[in-house]
Amino acid sequence: MIVEVLEDGAAAARAAALMAERIAGLRAPVLGLPTGRTMVPVYDRLVLAPIAWERVRTFNVDEFAGAALTAPGRFRAFMDEHLFSRVPIAPAAIGFPRGDAADLDAECRRYEAAVTGAGGLDLLVLGIGANGHVGFNEPGETLLAATHLATLSEATRRANAELFGGDWERVPSQAVTLGMGQLLKAREVLVVATGASKAEAVRAMVRGPLTTWCPASWLQTHGRATVVLDAAAAGLL
Ligand code: GLP
Repeated sequence: MIVEVLEDGAAAARAAALMAERIAGLRAPVLGLPTGRTMVPVYDRLVLAPIAWERVRTFNVDEFAGAALTAPGRFRAFMDEHLFSRVPIAPAAIGFPRGDAADLDAECRRYEAAVTGAGGLDLLVLGIGANGHVGFNEPGETLLAATHLATLSEATRRANAELFGGDWERVPSQAVTLGMGQLLKAREVLVVATGASKAEAVRAMVRGPLTTWCPASWLQTHGRATVVLDAAAAGLL
């Protein structure tokens, strides 16, 4: 893993610049994209970059299950607000798990096939949960390779409470997420983490043993992974 530690405030700009550079180098880029507070300043900068969005396809890494299409906390609403409404990307080029699907297992299979059918991800951008999750692959006894319905820990639901009016019990307890197999198959991975609350997870991701208890640790096996951090997130390295 290549680890870059940036001065305060510069990590988001660096991540956005790396994304823009990689996108420019690809004829028909397929991106894997995350949500989260970490990404807000990254997307704010990305929308200013000279990117040929009409060439870009995107797949988000996860979405809450059971959240009504009108629920403001949905990741799709986050992405529309922070990125998709601000750039000229065609709606058909935006891949997203349908968290409101009646048959969520079928939806997981559809989404897995959609990513594979697009040729897989050229550039996967990830945030990291304070508990080491990537996408919604939560720490546990096992990890799954394919897109699946994940059960969210209380800690993760609390971390997402802001999206649901500050009430963690309103955060759905399940989510559709790309699995570790699809994430690790991405041709390049960029992880962005900022703030002291991520320092322990970053240490476990970069220096810790490979363990299902830190899903992000498996990114150590990826041949082309870059981690962009601010000083606080790098504090335990
Ligand atoms: C969320 C999302 C992840 C995201 C992570 C970090 O729960 N499922 O895709 O990367 O947690 O979020 P944040 O940047 O808000 O800390």
